[in-house]
Amino acid sequence: MSYDYLRVTREGRVGVIRLDRPQAHNALCNGLVAELGRALDAFDGDAEIGAIVLTGGDKVFAAGADIGEMLDRDMAGLQAEDFPFAADGGWAALERCRTPVVAAVAGYALGGGCEMAMACDLILAADSAKFGQPEVKIGTMPGAGGTQRLVRAIGKAKAMELCLTGRMMGAEEAERAGLVCRVVPAGELETEALALATTIAGHSAPVVRLIRESVNQAFEGPLQAGLTFERRAFQSTFAFEDRREGMSAFAEKRKPSFRHK
Ligand code: CAA
Repeated sequence: MSYDYLRVTREGRVGVIRLDRPQAHNALCNGLVAELGRALDAFDGDAEIGAIVLTGGDKVFAAGADIGEMLDRDMAGLQAEDFPFAADGGWAALERCRTPVVAAVAGYALGGGCEMAMACDLILAADSAKFGQPEVKIGTMPGAGGTQRLVRAIGKAKAMELCLTGRMMGAEEAERAGLVCRVVPAGELETEALALATTIAGHSAPVVRLIRESVNQAFEGPLQAGLTFERRAFQSTFAFEDRREGMSAFAEKRKPSFRHK
């Protein structure tokens, strides 16, 4: 598959998708988002891929939806295609992707860029990362999860401030607030993201899938439903050979050899 706005590679069991539209600060034009959907779907359907890294450039992860493309659009058109969540686009692919996606963010992650990082399973940040929802400054508002995921990730007070002022939050503040799992030196972001994704991809794929769904259940639903979901998911790991292999390996003091299936 060839791409105009992405660079797509693989490192062992990790699929790497790099947003690559530097002349527009990786603004999420329709073409880029459609390509992202194709790349995510391809990796998600590939049994040899156990985790995905979604990243951008050194100075910009993504500066949001493409303002030039939106300039002359009207409400009826946006509503008709449910923009930005167009049914066959990258946003929907990110939502349905069952392979864990690590967002590796350096530089600006603004507007739709911040929302895209938040739609991933976790965010690893370079110390140069800057997160924000500046839509208010151009007379609109977040439309791809900014007012929803940001509140759940960092709480109402900080999310409200960021969305109402458009202020950017640096990497250290983002880590303190709970938006990112870790901050690493900018020069080490790629290596660290690959190491993180490789660790995930080395575990049993069906178990990873259940853990991911269970954590997302906590993010999205009420506690008792989440606890029940977690218990059933835990019990179902006992149907996998990988569960027996993992425990046997521990008892026999050796490394497990997971089948991944
Ligand atoms: N859409 C289209 N083009 C963009 C863009 C965007 N979101 N962000 C940057 N660009 C383009 C600029 O127009 C410029 O292009 P030209 O060289 O052709 O003029 C190029 O990228 C470089 O940008 P700047 O000259 O502005 O670079 P800078 O380093 O001075 O500033 C920045 C960087 C702070 C990220 C600034 O570009 C900026 O504020 N961008 C807009 C951020 C924004 O408002 N994002 C929200 C978009 S709305 C949205 O995302 C809605 C949603 O929820 C789905």
